[in-house]
Amino acid sequence: NWTPEHFVDSMVLALQNTIGPDDKVILGLSGGVDSSVAALLLHRAIGPRLHGIFVNNGLLRKDEYESVLHSYKDLGLNVRGVDASREFYAALVGLTDPEQKRKAIGRTFVEIFDQEAQKVEGARWLAQGTIYPDVIESVSVNGPAVTIKSHHNVGGLPEKMNLKIVEPLRTLFKDEVRQVGDALALPHNILHRHPFPGPGLGIRILGDITPHKVDLLQRADAIFIDGLREFGLYDQVWQAGVMLLPIQSVGVMGDERTYEQVVALRAVTSVDGMTADWAHLPYDFLAHVSNKIINQVRGINRVVYDISSKPPATIEWE
Ligand code: XMP
Repeated sequence: NWTPEHFVDSMVLALQNTIGPDDKVILGLSGGVDSSVAALLLHRAIGPRLHGIFVNNGLLRKDEYESVLHSYKDLGLNVRGVDASREFYAALVGLTDPEQKRKAIGRTFVEIFDQEAQKVEGARWLAQGTIYPDVIESVSVNGPAVTIKSHHNVGGLPEKMNLKIVEPLRTLFKDEVRQVGDALALPHNILHRHPFPGPGLGIRILGDITPHKVDLLQRADAIFIDGLREFGLYDQVWQAGVMLLPIQSVGVMGDERTYEQVVALRAVTSVDGMTADWAHLPYDFLAHVSNKIINQVRGINRVVYDISSKPPATIEWE
């Protein structure tokens, strides 16, 4: 019978048998559960020969880059943080179409990741946090515990690096990944983190992206997410975030008329993100968050709550 402890023991052995004694492994870390658990398994198997790369795309949550990097270092992982915010902002200037923004973010990520990966001399492997639902469509579902493909283009890494792929979580469902993470003492804040899209706040700022808009949204989002934690609601929703809308509305502050931005709060319950219901959050909580955002984030004077379910609305607005 499957236990996370057995899985850890046998996977660590399998990794040690597969990865040569001097081989280095590169892994892109995102702060999410899957890549973090993959990192801990590899760390247990090969220690500092695992080279983690954590890219700040400038579109993460407020303080997330620093705090996640700190957690990784606390866990003893060999991780290099790369702050590439400026490169991402530069690639996004003037783009308003959601798909174009996604592409620009994806392309820039590959460029930065490639650059960093090239610096790891003697790298032989690219590790990925792929889990079972990610591979269900693909053919060899019942492959060996450590799946090895001679695959060159994943992540856009150059052919000349000739990296082999290692995917230690390939046989696991999400809840099993969490159990394994728990067995490896992954901190609660990473283990139970809400899903967060790769393009990050880039698809929650409707319209074009500027560092100023990112700052506004990060501060509003932090008030919402911290509020969910304070009110004991964080674990009751599947995903939550704030959308910065590309419209201004009139308000009053003291004797002054204001004309500032609107944000929408989004929180959903779901099992897998394929369908979702808007979370029926308590009115007193919504009132608290709305007041706090409007009082503390100059530039935002109106907060609305998204009461659309998926389908037909998606979780993200872009
Ligand atoms: P939607 O908006 O399609 O989102 O209901 C479903 C889930 O997917 C996430 N999402 C993304 N994740 N890259 C990602 O890595 C993306 O481009 C992307 N778009 C949506 C979304 O946050 C939700 O969890």
